[in-house]
Amino acid sequence: MKKMIIGNWKMNLSRQEGLMLVQDLIEKGLNDTKGKVILCPPTVFLPELQQSIAGTGIALGAQDCSAFGKGAYTGQTSAKQLADFGVSVVILGHAERRSLCGETNADVRAKAQQACEAGLLPIICIGESGDDKASGRAEGVLRLQIEESCPETGVFVLAYEPLWAIGTGLKPTPKDVDEIFTFIKSVREVAVVYGGSVQGHDAADFLGLEILDGVLVGGAALKTDSFLQIAQSV
Ligand code: PGA
Repeated sequence: MKKMIIGNWKMNLSRQEGLMLVQDLIEKGLNDTKGKVILCPPTVFLPELQQSIAGTGIALGAQDCSAFGKGAYTGQTSAKQLADFGVSVVILGHAERRSLCGETNADVRAKAQQACEAGLLPIICIGESGDDKASGRAEGVLRLQIEESCPETGVFVLAYEPLWAIGTGLKPTPKDVDEIFTFIKSVREVAVVYGGSVQGHDAADFLGLEILDGVLVGGAALKTDSFLQIAQSV
């Protein structure tokens, strides 16, 4: 399997900035890199971005989907509706959604089931807080998140994103990642990517680890140079 380079734009960039970023990335060779590049823009950008990346091999991802199939769910977008716009991947249970939107493990599992049924690949985020880590609870927290958030069947990917590393500049060492990934894969034998302050200059240290199936990138996905450097580190 190709290593995944996933860019999570979160709620950043204007329409124009997003289109220019993608154009610039493609012009500078993003589609010629060895990994599987997946761009996850805000939902409203999906239709235009689908056109911008057509034929490049770059995949389109969403940042969330509904836990329901259809109906009276104002403001939500179903996995099937995303698939209609060429979306093939969906990030679920991101730490920001868990903390800002009160999303539970059960919600994440229901969303993952919807995503699988619609033919999308769910990327299910898990991660311990700084307190969990300091008090030696990290493995217990991760085990519970995996057991309760993941669908029993179906293909999905886990994203290990320690909360203390997201947007902070702090990150585990590659050796720590190797150990924690071994633990995660002992709980559920699936592909696992790392996310949390990955930068252009250190992406190769992570992507060089055999156990790691890719990276989930936030801040550094918003600029051509840093995202390209990460994608070229595979
Ligand atoms: P960051 O975000 O790379 O800015 O730390 C990662 C994420 O939240 O997915």
